[in-house]
Amino acid sequence: MSATRGARVRALAKINLDLRVLSRRADGYHELRTIFQTISLADTLDIAFTPGRKSSIALADNRIPDNLVLRAAQAVMDILRRPGRVEMRLTKRIPMGAGLGGGSSDAAAVLLALPVLAGRDVPLPDLCRLGRELGSDVPFFLLGGTAVGVGRGTELFPLPDAAARPGVLVAPDIHVSTAEAYRLLSASLTTGLQENKIVSFQSQAWDWGCRQPAVNDFEPVVFLRHAPLARLKKRLEGTGAVSALMTGSGSAVFGLYRTAEEASRAMASLRDRDLAGGKGFRFGLVSRARYRSMWWRALHEHTGANVWPLPSRYLR
Ligand code: C5P
Repeated sequence: MSATRGARVRALAKINLDLRVLSRRADGYHELRTIFQTISLADTLDIAFTPGRKSSIALADNRIPDNLVLRAAQAVMDILRRPGRVEMRLTKRIPMGAGLGGGSSDAAAVLLALPVLAGRDVPLPDLCRLGRELGSDVPFFLLGGTAVGVGRGTELFPLPDAAARPGVLVAPDIHVSTAEAYRLLSASLTTGLQENKIVSFQSQAWDWGCRQPAVNDFEPVVFLRHAPLARLKKRLEGTGAVSALMTGSGSAVFGLYRTAEEASRAMASLRDRDLAGGKGFRFGLVSRARYRSMWWRALHEHTGANVWPLPSRYLR
């Protein structure tokens, strides 16, 4: 009988409901305040582990150079100390280079699934450390739902669920380099602004979107370079979105609506020129409880008493 254990898991995308960049830090990263939110748009990862004498990691049909799932699998194998064969297949649906965290979510999916399939417990602080080493957005996907991200974006504080607003997302055919967007923004950051940003961010985190419009500090610099993105935001505002915002450093822009009908109507009203050569998606916000039960369903047949990686107080 084969000792292979495999699972099909969904790696969800994220949006930033609010994003403030405060200052450049001594380590070259920027100090952030953001509200992360998992959404229903997802990649699919098939992953299997077979114990053996030697270790190997394979990703079928990989077309992404330096794919983060390979680095994530290597990082997990290095600390598991259980040799074996890791086989993966990734079906991409989340547009890349769009600020939706697709690559980071794929990597986090490996961090969550592989220890369970290999029957070894990796303590959460170790998973968080591996996540941070792989990228600033990776640790959020170990948590899911709605959360405040501080520091590089890797210090996370769970928030109560955001109001369940249906959304429309447009990922135009425009690639924005994250490092370049930070460089452009850096030039305009002043210490005087920081205090105001922190106070205004805090009221968003307490009461998102209720008193003031959400903010993404990247919008002014990225919109200046890519005029179609500014038009896209206006267009989504014109369809009745309660909030229309670019996510991360772009280029995707989302709108959130009061009802599913409004969102569907907005989606149907988008024309080719609104999409700027890209694609539109309908999505829903995914709460932390749903995120965790999704993971539990995907992996529970393999979990023993001690190998479930997520803290049980979040599991309902
Ligand atoms: O951590 P990650 O690899 O996703 O970051 C990509 C780039 O984005 C970094 O090399 C850095 O230039 C920039 N970045 C930053 N401050 C952050 C996150 C990312 O300057 N908090």
